[in-house]
Amino acid sequence: LNYQVPRTRKEIFETLVKGLQRLEYRGYDSAGIAVDGPNKTTTDINGNTICLIKKTGKVKALDEELYKKDTLDLDEKLNTHFGLAHTRWATHGEPSALNSHPHRSDKDNEFVVIHNGIITNYKELKKYLINKGYEFESETDTEVIPKLIKYVYDNRENDSITFSTLVERVIQQLEGAFALVFKSRHYPGEAVSTRRGSPLLIGVRSEHELSTEHIPVQYNSGHFKEEVQEKNSHNRPDCSNAINSVGNGKAVEYYFASDASAIIEHTNKVLYLEDDDVAVVTKGELSIHRVNRQAGEDPVRAIQTLQMELQQIMKGNFDAFMQKEIFEQPESVVNTMRGRICFDSNKVVLGGLKDHLKEIKRCRRLIMIGCGTSFHAAVATRQILEELTELPVMVELASDFLDRNTPVFRDDVSFFISQSGETADTLMALRYCKNRGALTVGITNTVGSTICRETDCGVHINAGPEIGVASTKAYTSQFVALIMFGLMMSEDRLSLQERRLEIIKGLNVLPELIKQVLSLDLKIKAIANELYQQRSLLVMGRGFNYATCLEGALKIKEITYMHSEGILAGELKHGPLALIDTQMPVIMVIMRDACYVKCQNALQQVTARSGRPIIICCKDDSEMTKNAYQTIELPHTVDCLQGILSVIPLQLLSFHLAVLRGYDVDCPRNLAKSVTVE
Ligand code: G6P
Repeated sequence: LNYQVPRTRKEIFETLVKGLQRLEYRGYDSAGIAVDGPNKTTTDINGNTICLIKKTGKVKALDEELYKKDTLDLDEKLNTHFGLAHTRWATHGEPSALNSHPHRSDKDNEFVVIHNGIITNYKELKKYLINKGYEFESETDTEVIPKLIKYVYDNRENDSITFSTLVERVIQQLEGAFALVFKSRHYPGEAVSTRRGSPLLIGVRSEHELSTEHIPVQYNSGHFKEEVQEKNSHNRPDCSNAINSVGNGKAVEYYFASDASAIIEHTNKVLYLEDDDVAVVTKGELSIHRVNRQAGEDPVRAIQTLQMELQQIMKGNFDAFMQKEIFEQPESVVNTMRGRICFDSNKVVLGGLKDHLKEIKRCRRLIMIGCGTSFHAAVATRQILEELTELPVMVELASDFLDRNTPVFRDDVSFFISQSGETADTLMALRYCKNRGALTVGITNTVGSTICRETDCGVHINAGPEIGVASTKAYTSQFVALIMFGLMMSEDRLSLQERRLEIIKGLNVLPELIKQVLSLDLKIKAIANELYQQRSLLVMGRGFNYATCLEGALKIKEITYMHSEGILAGELKHGPLALIDTQMPVIMVIMRDACYVKCQNALQQVTARSGRPIIICCKDDSEMTKNAYQTIELPHTVDCLQGILSVIPLQLLSFHLAVLRGYDVDCPRNLAKSVTVE
């Protein structure tokens, strides 16, 4: 949003497109822009128009599209100009121009909005607004927002209502997570933005150097607001100078963005909004209000000076995307559960499956199919799915499933688990099952992917884009999604209610427990320091934690290039025991569950051969500490969820091993994120 320095429309496009390209790592299935169109004086509100341009595909496709619009004068200079742009990672509705942002209130683009996050109560809102005569054009959750603001505007009590009041009323109706920026023809040159749960920052560029300033945050509650304003006028003489510089004839530009990578080329002065902050820029002045909070605190949002390089900003404080994604897991599992589990009523609803539930319950068996990490998510949840669905569950590597010409029947239900939704082997298996009349269910992280489109129904795991080739957060989210499926299937089984309750409670505290596991990072790094020159590493366990061994060994192989094997502890004596000696590094996963005693036997077999195991176990398990060379102690949770926690130390270990061995963690040799050839 710029003031005082006239910019051509072309320059504005360039700024927005560059910003989007920087954010493309967050999502890249479609993109869109809203800019002020040519002014018309006759029928249009205040003569202002807003022009929307949207395109499926990467930002590059949008960029090309912008210059095809011959109706827009690219060289027209605009004094105050506010443009919006968005690159999408679909959560509701396939990637398409219609589903991409900005979304609009109506055909005249009275209000337009961009959104990062998920609106979980959008169905109710949509129904309400449709009843009121508002017409929807996309399948997205976001579209309820511009429709709702128009509804509030159309029903306003008087004409002096401010843009920010409209936005405050809208967000009071929203559930879920959002960062929003609004633009309106009724409020030209004015920007309103707000957030809850999703990140949002404002970059401030001024002609003169800004020192670290503080923007006072005002309350929207009656007379207190005045008190605060008065108090602030003492507190921030310099601040007004820095921010409200239109009066001084200084150039000011404001940039709203999900993260600093989008704006760092223009300014390194940023302030981070907090949940329920509403930021408004009117006539070149930035002000921030709190929504719905009682007064008592006197918050300020500090303008910070970022010292980071672009690459660094995209990765946050992390050295690699993989590391960032490992540390995102407390949030990504919440995003998988958001709006699907009600922790009060213990109801679990996966919207994409509910119409097929009857059919699934009647089936002969469940077949879970995937490759690599996605296959491991099936192995990890097989036992609990058998228990909760009371159906036979087959787990299959897609390539092997096809090689065997496995018999498939009309009353089978086949699941296709894939982060990318594009893996060729999994896709071929999907077509194979479809041809034989089985119901096909997709479990993917990529809305609009081929697997998504070709399956009969499915679940989006909503873990957010995964950039590191070695999958981490997608695995734990697939794990959670499959458990939710089991919970949904067992809702009416009286004998399973106690078990369901225990699992739902476990899911509720899972993010907290993941944080506790992540806090072991330094200890794991120290272990990596001891191991990184080894040639081989065995990972052993059984029962609910067997998949952790397979997945941990895969992570080690993928990025450290060390030989690693996940071994079922029950098979130890049938072969792998021959490998054990004082030199061979062994990691054992021994948690307090039904396999505990059997795992102890395996441990004895290892220590009796002078093996020196590193044991991943539950906190305060003195039996384990006694026999281990080292322990990694994890919080205890429900047996079927323990694998979510026990895999994380191995994700971290593989990361540290790879760094110590000097390898590029995000781009391991010979591997690709998405393997689209058979
Ligand atoms: C590739 C990746 C693995 C991934 C596997 C399955 O091999 O390198 O990390 O687990 O594909 O990918 P999908 O996208 O189907 O989950």
